[in-house]
Amino acid sequence: MKRIWISLLTILPATFLSGQDGLKPTPQWRPAYHFTPLTNWTNDPNGLIFLDGKYHLYNQQNPYGIGWGHMSWGHATSTDLVHWEHLPLAIPETIDKDTTWRFSGSAVWDKDNSSGLCNPGGCMVAVYTADQPNLKKESQFIAYSNDRGRTFTHYANNPVLDLQKKDFRDPNVSWSPQLNKWLMVVALPREYKVRFYASTDLRSWELLSEFGPGGYANAPWECPFLVPLTVEGKKGEGSEKWVLVVSAGGAEKGTYMQYFVGGFDGKTFTNDNPSDAVLTVDYGDCFYAAIPWNGLPDKRKTYIGWLTPGPQATYPWTGQMSIPRDLALRETPQGLRLVQAPATLIRKNLDGLSHHRVTEAKDIAIRPNAVPVQKWKAMPGNAYWIEADLTVGPGAAAGILLAAKKDGDNGIAGTRIGYDPSRHQLFVDRSHAGGGKIKTGKEIQTIDLDTAAFAGKTLHLEILVDRSSLEVFADHGLYALSTQIFPDKDADSIYFFSNGGDAYIRSVRVWDLSPISQK
Ligand code: FRU
Repeated sequence: MKRIWISLLTILPATFLSGQDGLKPTPQWRPAYHFTPLTNWTNDPNGLIFLDGKYHLYNQQNPYGIGWGHMSWGHATSTDLVHWEHLPLAIPETIDKDTTWRFSGSAVWDKDNSSGLCNPGGCMVAVYTADQPNLKKESQFIAYSNDRGRTFTHYANNPVLDLQKKDFRDPNVSWSPQLNKWLMVVALPREYKVRFYASTDLRSWELLSEFGPGGYANAPWECPFLVPLTVEGKKGEGSEKWVLVVSAGGAEKGTYMQYFVGGFDGKTFTNDNPSDAVLTVDYGDCFYAAIPWNGLPDKRKTYIGWLTPGPQATYPWTGQMSIPRDLALRETPQGLRLVQAPATLIRKNLDGLSHHRVTEAKDIAIRPNAVPVQKWKAMPGNAYWIEADLTVGPGAAAGILLAAKKDGDNGIAGTRIGYDPSRHQLFVDRSHAGGGKIKTGKEIQTIDLDTAAFAGKTLHLEILVDRSSLEVFADHGLYALSTQIFPDKDADSIYFFSNGGDAYIRSVRVWDLSPISQK
């Protein structure tokens, strides 16, 4: 496989990039309620669109191997965002003198046949980047589907947008009622810019404006999108703001996504914050390339991201998607901040999804007898969803220790998620996690909570454990941290811990999601 330079992918472990097969199956790390391809490699979500009651999830796939390469659009659909039906490859690579890889992009429903490519009733149009390594070029192509997204035909006059550049990718297109046109946001990765284009027919695109550099500009900008988001608790005038989200992963920060809050007048995006202000989407080391679904029936904005793989190989697949997340904005003392909480659609179905295997408890004192760690429950299968309210007293650093087991020499092996009021930090500590390899230097990951507001008060946590992924949402989605864990199969218990002081679990509820299977 030819290697090309593309940002984050260059810093992934060589195992993945060389497509090394013959690895041992790792069923203990196959997520139950997160999307993974049945076999082979996946990276970015692509072409997210809701149609006929189904959430389509196209995604970057290598149909031939466990490493990145041969980029094609894989395809799956779901009605509940949890169970995925795996469908045949939707847009395969083309190997000829030019060789075209189908890089990331989006999909829209062209109900009025604006493109002239549809049968009566409309068609799906995918707008994506054609990466042509032999030509050292990236340009934007379209392909249309007259069978509701199962198979695509390439438009005869591609590219539809070409700047003769090596790096120009990841068009995110949606219908703009404001413009009464299709609106595209697309990245100029090496220039740390995005461009906005408009179109009436998806075939010819008019440049509206550029935005950037700004915020974090020390890694290539990729996979941008622009959405209006509602400010929680507000209605009417001023209740909505535009949010521009940009992935910027590279050697310095690793996997990283940022966002800008501002206005969009139909031509130009204006950042409300100083241009050097950096706003972080997710504080963990693996959430990337997230984009929202087009075509949702209500005002809901739901997105999904790729959880980038670390040094631990999984087999026969590599890579998984995050939990789908609903987006909003919240007013905080520091200004408007992004809120992302696990999709309400999933959240409200948890009882049914777990076959009513729900365990709950109230008012558990941690360390009443100076015991720093206490076991709560075994969760065989290691796929569960915790909701907890935690109070940590002064001098303590306390929380939940999960995917844990007794480990002779070190006491307990497991991952700690806790709150340290003296540092105003939420932390995920994998340094005694045991099991498979994690990213060196990322054993402990933290979030600086913006205020001291939580000391002595209750911190609301949602913690999603799915065999090899861990997503932590604090304060009802104001903070998110996604990472990976690779526990041994028998490391399947939940403990509570406190170092140095008293803490309380005010309430805890856990849904066992291990009965879910994707097959
Ligand atoms: C982001 C990315 C995109 C590109 C795709 C290729 O992870 O580098 O910019 O379109 O992956 O697979």
